[in-house]
Amino acid sequence: MTQKTGVDMEKIVSLSKRRGFIFQSSEIYGGLGSCWDYGPLGVELKRNVKEAWWKAMVRDRDDIVGLDASILMHPQTWVASGHVQEFADPLVDCKSCRQRFRADELKENKCPNCGGELTEPRMFNLMFKTLMGPVEDEAAVVYLRPETAQGIFVNFQNVLATSRKKLPFGIAQTGKAFRNEITTGNFIFRSREFEQMEMEFFVKPGTDREWFSHWLEERFNWYVNLGIKKENLRLRQHAKKELAHYALDCCDIDYLFPMGWSELEGIANRGDFDLMQHAKHSGKDMRYFDEETQGHIMPYIIEPSAGVDRSVLAFLLDAYDEETVEKEKRVVLHLHPALAPIKTAILPLSRNEKLVPLAREVYAGLRGAFMTQYDDSQSIGRRYRRQDEIGTPFCVTVDFQSLDDRQVTIRDRDSLKQIRVPMETLRATLQAKLAGEAFELLPPGGSR
Ligand code: GAP
Repeated sequence: MTQKTGVDMEKIVSLSKRRGFIFQSSEIYGGLGSCWDYGPLGVELKRNVKEAWWKAMVRDRDDIVGLDASILMHPQTWVASGHVQEFADPLVDCKSCRQRFRADELKENKCPNCGGELTEPRMFNLMFKTLMGPVEDEAAVVYLRPETAQGIFVNFQNVLATSRKKLPFGIAQTGKAFRNEITTGNFIFRSREFEQMEMEFFVKPGTDREWFSHWLEERFNWYVNLGIKKENLRLRQHAKKELAHYALDCCDIDYLFPMGWSELEGIANRGDFDLMQHAKHSGKDMRYFDEETQGHIMPYIIEPSAGVDRSVLAFLLDAYDEETVEKEKRVVLHLHPALAPIKTAILPLSRNEKLVPLAREVYAGLRGAFMTQYDDSQSIGRRYRRQDEIGTPFCVTVDFQSLDDRQVTIRDRDSLKQIRVPMETLRATLQAKLAGEAFELLPPGGSR
């Protein structure tokens, strides 16, 4: 039935725009460089990605708690973290065509665009600055956070005291981060405003390597469990010279994006760098009192740091397929049901005046349970194709027979199998199938 074709970025960009997943920011003014807006379906998909992460990292565990720190932080935070000093890329300009590049990404010392001569590299700090309060001077400068992690470190003692957690334990948060990237592009892969899902796991020194391996495995499996093909994922250990200023060790989870293997998530062993630095710069005690040894220790930190937008892109790319069904091409997103923006669509066979009230009744019965769409426009075939293209796992059709037997047909997006179920059990049936139950016919007379 299926004939898989390769997927390039253009197809995802075009589907995203056509179906309302992702638009260019401020498009009517010509767009704003590397900023993106999530449309009605994109926002659902993105929320589902974050929900799935929050569930796996916070709700399903008793050793991790959540946090939502503010984007603007005391400027000293970024001095302590090393970002004011270190968070910079070497920038070069072409003297002929004026294009700008990151020197560390160039293979030769000439412009890759026109071959022209390049300027000497100068360090360019990636943090966005803004001004706080009415006076526009240097003292008013604050930064838009380039990572969410620092909001967690500075709150370590607050969370420790109020949650009464013992080592090892973690603090998780999702939120916006901003970087004035020099080289952008590849759609939402690298943007200037993006979202992160970060978890800082505080451990006793000496147990850090073990926890590092643990989190590598956990995070790798998270993507696989949500449908990413294993062969499109790999682990990439950082070489010593590549490590960020704070890291003792780091390993990326890479995804095979259309432009090649690229980082989806980084897992770092940050040692005691961050807590030490904040202790030094704030003058506050950032240590942990260990009841076992009756001594103070500075915890080590293992950090799985993922990008929401990169995950969205990877899930879209991995789910995209073009298939031939009964000699017709269909585009389908095989999204995991937990991620699919719309879980089910109610499709009356036609706009017949007898069918519509029944279909509306079915719709009303499902809406409160999960994202449901009602669609009675165009032919049933076109409506199926539209739902396939946006990744809706199940379509429910209401036909003339439904008027007599109060049964409806559920169609499975992936296998295209159809089953007929009583309206009364539809909600429970869909719930079970969305949770992963096999899509098979019920035994004769079987009910739920
Ligand atoms: N706290 C550690 C940290 O921020 P990072 O490797 O710089 O580490 C973590 O970023 C993740 O954030 C990346 O793996 C990526 O998914 C995402 N990310 C980083 N910069 C990004 C950008 N410009 N656009 C989109 N996502 C980005």
